[in-house]
Amino acid sequence: MADNRVVVYKGPGEVAVEDIEYPKLEVPEEVADAMGMTKEAPHAVILKIVSTNICGSDQHMVRGRTTAPVGQTLGHEITGEVVEKGNDVQFIEVGDICSVPFNIACGRCRNCNEGKTGICLNVNPARAGSAYGYVDMGGWTGGQAEYVMVPFADFNLLKFPDRDQALEKILDLTMLSDIFPTGYHGAYTAQVTTGSTVYVAGAGPVGLAAAYSALLLGAAVVIVGDLNEERLAQARSFGCETVNVGEDAELSDQIAEIVGIPEVDCAVDAVGFEASGKGGEEAPAVVLNQIQTVTRAGGSLGIPGLYVTGDPGASDPDAQEGTLKIRFGLGWAKSHAFFTGQCPVKKYNRGLMMSILHDKAHIADAVNATVITLDEAPQGYKDFDKGAAKKYVLNPNGYINA
Ligand SMILES: NC(=O)c1ccc[n+]([C@@H]2O[C@H](COP(=O)([O-])OP(=O)(O)OC[C@H]3O[C@@H](n4cnc5c(N)ncnc54)[C@H](O)[C@@H]3O)[C@@H](O)[C@H]2O)c1
Ligand SMILES: [Zn+2]
Ligand SMILES: [Zn+2]
Repeated sequence: MADNRVVVYKGPGEVAVEDIEYPKLEVPEEVADAMGMTKEAPHAVILKIVSTNICGSDQHMVRGRTTAPVGQTLGHEITGEVVEKGNDVQFIEVGDICSVPFNIACGRCRNCNEGKTGICLNVNPARAGSAYGYVDMGGWTGGQAEYVMVPFADFNLLKFPDRDQALEKILDLTMLSDIFPTGYHGAYTAQVTTGSTVYVAGAGPVGLAAAYSALLLGAAVVIVGDLNEERLAQARSFGCETVNVGEDAELSDQIAEIVGIPEVDCAVDAVGFEASGKGGEEAPAVVLNQIQTVTRAGGSLGIPGLYVTGDPGASDPDAQEGTLKIRFGLGWAKSHAFFTGQCPVKKYNRGLMMSILHDKAHIADAVNATVITLDEAPQGYKDFDKGAAKKYVLNPNGYINA
């Protein structure tokens, strides 16, 4: 009998659920050695996982479009119950149910002190910023599992105020670990406000969360673009307009049909580097160029969609090292502001939790949260890759609908 099980990347298109050791209160060797940290982690907790979601960011690895090695553990969208804590954890107790921001952050470095927890300087020797179960992110074990270790727990964890209420609203609260804050960050950095017109590229879970957030922020019109009709229908289900970017018409003309002019105030890229052109062909810079084209002069572009420094699967050699053909002169001429990078989840998760707990936000319905077991994860990855209009939530310990 193994003490823990986790979803593992097995090579392009394949994941499996494998046995793994029960987590210890220890940071990965590679982080401890390089960052001058002790391996023992009295600041950490062990969580029994309540819910953990599959993300488009995982798909980049599973499609073989990153440098993730076979054997990479997966899962960065984690909600769990504390079952063990280190001696230096002061304000979190065994039994607390908590949301885990996907960014791992020390709470002690210059960037953490400035609230920039997506680019913590102490948790990943390869670069600033880290996450559970992700390539080039310091070797922290993934949380599509039964149990996981969370370091710097006092800083990282968001404790839910009431256990019963948390379990009742778990399908909404599970989105606080990543996509709800990330979508909100996209809309917020695009400077969506009361009366804004907004274009959101991508109707995957992040795009839907960005569109939902734009409505929360008071947008007058939210237009969601994708090539996937089922996902566009999901966007219409909560009040968005939609455009199919696979059609012949120019995006600016499609926007003009909806808002009367060929531009919007704000735009969000919720697609990233695996973007498709009209015929479904690979076009990694197409969304970046489209959002510059359709956003008004003086507007802001929120870019949560992920871009990489290494894409072994890219068809062109420049794109293989993350160099894309962006029409930057256009954005410059229009004085656009660009906001990129990991979402600093802690900046938004508490406020969004309050909106959920007080019935102001129903994010699970907007993204069509769909519960599956840990053993069904391989099938969930396949269906999500095919474009299912669903956000898969794994239920590894039977907490959901128990
Ligand atoms: N910045 C962050 O902190 C952060 C956090 C989570 C996810 N992400 C990234 O956000 C992106 C979206 O995540 P997701 O889970 O929704 O992924 P997803 O793959 O489910 O959704 C992407 C959608 O984009 C659509 N698309 C492709 N080309 C398009 C185009 N030209 N115009 C419009 N739509 C197009 C696809 O059909 C798909 O529905 C991914 O790149 C993911 O890695 C970033
Ligand atoms: Zn994610
Ligand atoms: Zn830090």
